[in-house]
Amino acid sequence: MREPFIAGNWKMNMTPSQGAVFAASLKDALKGSRTKVMVAVPFVTIPAVLEVLKGSNIIVGAQNMSDQKSGAHTGEISALMLKDLGVNTVILGHSERRAIYGESDSFINRKVLLAIAEGMEVVLCIGETLSEREGGHLEEVLTSQVTEGLKGVSAEEMKKITLAYEPVWAIGTGRTATPEDANDAHAFIRGLVAKLYNEGVAEELIIQYGGSVKADNVAALLSKEHIDGALVGGASLSVEQFLPIVNFGA
Ligand code: 13P
Repeated sequence: MREPFIAGNWKMNMTPSQGAVFAASLKDALKGSRTKVMVAVPFVTIPAVLEVLKGSNIIVGAQNMSDQKSGAHTGEISALMLKDLGVNTVILGHSERRAIYGESDSFINRKVLLAIAEGMEVVLCIGETLSEREGGHLEEVLTSQVTEGLKGVSAEEMKKITLAYEPVWAIGTGRTATPEDANDAHAFIRGLVAKLYNEGVAEELIIQYGGSVKADNVAALLSKEHIDGALVGGASLSVEQFLPIVNFGA
């Protein structure tokens, strides 16, 4: 049985003071919820949110980290720094990092390996662009993102990995993949993981769907066999919108 995992990705929203106020109302709203929930918040907002969420089950994650351990890397944040704050989960390979900041599969893979070596958990994002899908390259793109992104990760270490399938064309557009299309992509990814590892690893792997997840489409998505959770952008910035999403994961 795979435990549903709902994550909010705040992206570049919420200053430390805004994040603290928001986290307090989220903590209150989610009191008693047993769903696995994470909020991935901007680096500088992490301490304020961690402080407010102390004593709750809500996981505080980061949205990125450096592929290097330390040293002359101006502007970067290391795994060690995150761990020192108490952050043990990091989103890697988000399509915005890939598209806007030119992160490649091999670069992302270095981050994945470093996070794992540091004992962290990873939400690795994958997903195709519209032209890749329309050009019939969906499986090819997912195959290379999964294969390259997970290179060097052992079957045992796969327990630390969550995959997030986020079709780029569905992110922030209000255009969600149909539950059937999303489930087909998830089934393909799970099959690929079975080939790369084994059936057991594939069966246990949590695969989140992301891309315009809202209160009114989450139930249909999560009812599908291979959709185990959600990675939520815009709707995670409002307690009113995020709460029903979390509750459908219950
Ligand atoms: P939206 O839910 O705003 O489409 O964003 C999805 C996403 O990119 C989460 O990482």
